[in-house]
Amino acid sequence: MPFKTIIEPFKIKSVEPIAISTEAERTAYLEKANYNPFRLQSDQVMIDLLTDSGTSAMSSRQWAAIMEGDEAYAGSNSWKRMESVIKDLTGFTFVLPTHQGRAAERIIYGLLGGKGKTFISNTHFDTTRANIEFTGAEAIDAPIKEGVEPTSTHPFKGNLDVDRLEKIILEKKPENIGAVILTVTNNSSGGQPVSMENAEAVSRICRKHQVIFILDCCRIAENSYFIKHREKAYRNTGYKEIAKKMFSLADGAVMSAKKDGLVNMGGFLAVSDKKIAETCKNLLIITEGYTTYGGLSGRDMEAIAVGLEEVFEADYLEYRIKSTSFLGERLHRMNIPVVYPIGGHAVYIDARAFYPHIPVEQYPGQSLVCELYLKGGIRSVETGSVMFGKYDHSGKLIPASMELVRLAIPRRVYTQSHIEYVIEVFEALLAEKQQVPGYRITKEAPLLRHFTAHFEPVTQ
Ligand code: F0G
Repeated sequence: MPFKTIIEPFKIKSVEPIAISTEAERTAYLEKANYNPFRLQSDQVMIDLLTDSGTSAMSSRQWAAIMEGDEAYAGSNSWKRMESVIKDLTGFTFVLPTHQGRAAERIIYGLLGGKGKTFISNTHFDTTRANIEFTGAEAIDAPIKEGVEPTSTHPFKGNLDVDRLEKIILEKKPENIGAVILTVTNNSSGGQPVSMENAEAVSRICRKHQVIFILDCCRIAENSYFIKHREKAYRNTGYKEIAKKMFSLADGAVMSAKKDGLVNMGGFLAVSDKKIAETCKNLLIITEGYTTYGGLSGRDMEAIAVGLEEVFEADYLEYRIKSTSFLGERLHRMNIPVVYPIGGHAVYIDARAFYPHIPVEQYPGQSLVCELYLKGGIRSVETGSVMFGKYDHSGKLIPASMELVRLAIPRRVYTQSHIEYVIEVFEALLAEKQQVPGYRITKEAPLLRHFTAHFEPVTQ
């Protein structure tokens, strides 16, 4: 288009009201939620940027497909449609439906993991790490060094450090490697893309040492956009073809369809190895369901089949990536420390740089999350030491590599004026930066603590 205004490439057919609240009301809600926005009710939130997962608006084509849902226990036609779209996209011979991404993770990493095994990734997402560690295996993150520098402008900050990868494989011995997992885009370190060149290098190393290579592909359409626009060799290649090429480099894939599947629920596991597929199918039946529905209803599978096609449409992807970067660029211009360049599904703020007076032990990311909610009713999520921090043997916090806050943008849900509002709330936060308190944790679970932890402000 010759104009710079990005218009949403859709019209709104059905609307959902937003409950407008006051700052006084939100102060009470947040205290009741123990300063953890995961514990808020959604009608206490005005703009919900907690996640881009399962929060997409479906298209009229998807809603129409839902009416075609075949709810047969075995041999559902809806499964046939979903399976055929996934086989065409991924090229893998065996596809298993799951109710969401972590169910696929539990099945495949349960099989490949266990005590003594090591998994290596550009960055393990929290559920990925939890599923691996739960088996007794270890999960090592090996992002390139630019990937953990918030201000580095490397075009593919999601890349895996291939020298480190090979070193770890040799040190641990190839037979002890559970799998190498490439997460595209790299959610936990800024939603940053992975280049095809990097995926090819990872694939070469895995094949050389006969190590299994799995793609965590939940945002692969967004990743393909970045490859087309940043990696010269792919300038004239279609988005879907780019994704297909990346799948061809791996031995299998796990997908949470709640992201680039453009649906509210669903996922899959796909592999090329028959033996692995057979074992996984048995595990699937025990916990997810029969192999032709795996925890999904027929209508969910119809919506996924359509969503996985729509997500590669050029107008959609262009709008998606440009509208995320519109928010990020505007915050960047206001000197808000954002992870730069802006990633695909979210804008990440470096909370340590935003609130330098709050020590990491008092979780500056949690402070920003709470302020965004109090001032503007905006729900975001901390992806720093609350989510990824550990304790050493003496109980001292081992902080995460970055103290980030994520503003995840649901797909096709909010309009330009919602985004303008978010920018205005940040202007208000800038003016009151100095008075903001840190937080301490008063209650936490041993795994995935960020979902349920209780906090209180540190006031002295
Ligand atoms: N892998 C990645 C990279 C993810 O971002 C997620 C989920 C999963 C796996 C697990 O998928 O939720 O369907 O079980 N990410 C969500 C988020 C929760 O907010 O980023 P799931």
